[in-house]
Amino acid sequence: MANPTLLDYLHQLRRQGVSHVEIDDQARAVLRELYTRGSARRPVAKTSVSAPPNNTALRATGSTPAEKITSLSKIANTWQPARALGSLRDTMVFSVGNPEADFMLVGEAPDYQEEQKSEPFVGPAGAKLNQILKAMGLSRDQVYLTNVCKFRPATKNQTTNNRKPSPEEMATFLPILKAEIDIVKPRVIVALGGSAAQGLLGSGKPVGQFRGSWHQFQGIPLRVTHHPSYLLRQEEGPGEKRKVWEDMLAIMEKLALPISEKQRGFFKG
Ligand code: URA
Repeated sequence: MANPTLLDYLHQLRRQGVSHVEIDDQARAVLRELYTRGSARRPVAKTSVSAPPNNTALRATGSTPAEKITSLSKIANTWQPARALGSLRDTMVFSVGNPEADFMLVGEAPDYQEEQKSEPFVGPAGAKLNQILKAMGLSRDQVYLTNVCKFRPATKNQTTNNRKPSPEEMATFLPILKAEIDIVKPRVIVALGGSAAQGLLGSGKPVGQFRGSWHQFQGIPLRVTHHPSYLLRQEEGPGEKRKVWEDMLAIMEKLALPISEKQRGFFKG
């Protein structure tokens, strides 16, 4: 069959619950040709349009956002598209915080410490994130913290070492993350770091190219900023901290949070 790779990829997306894809002219021509060849061989069916992807597996139950998040986390724990990859570890780390929060923070994947405690952002990056939230006048239980990938990515002979989730690993969780966003209904989302931005926006650009402006995800304003662990790797100096802080100030403005003059001046050189 011509171009099985494209078809396999589209089937894989459909299994993951993706209902629409943008395709360029070349792909459209390939698909049209496959469709024409396929129709020539197929007996004419009463309905030639295939049913929309079955998303019922993702229907979280419950009447409150907290109950729905609990239900969704159970679905995520046995989420076949991710389990089938065989490249992730077994302990799920889902989310923490307020399932009705206005502000949702999305990281990449749990590390060793997060896996140990089954809670996102409890290691060194989490401590840095707590400082950032505190500077904004927020605490962990006022926001909703989650990751694109809900399991720690596995490596050979793994002990405490971690790796970033692959684009494929993150893509398998996109339907879960979308359902999570539908439940929490945040007013603002922040993607923490390049992997989270790629997982959400589908583009592997460096953080610097996403930063400083608003994006949209499911109609919700989304900001991209550096991952807290990036700040941990920086030499002492205010430059990169200020960039993250400027993203946080923009988020505070969007959320209509009070901002003092002192806060406005944090990390200015
Ligand atoms: N890094 C992340 O992106 N998420 C975590 O939960 C921990 C570290």
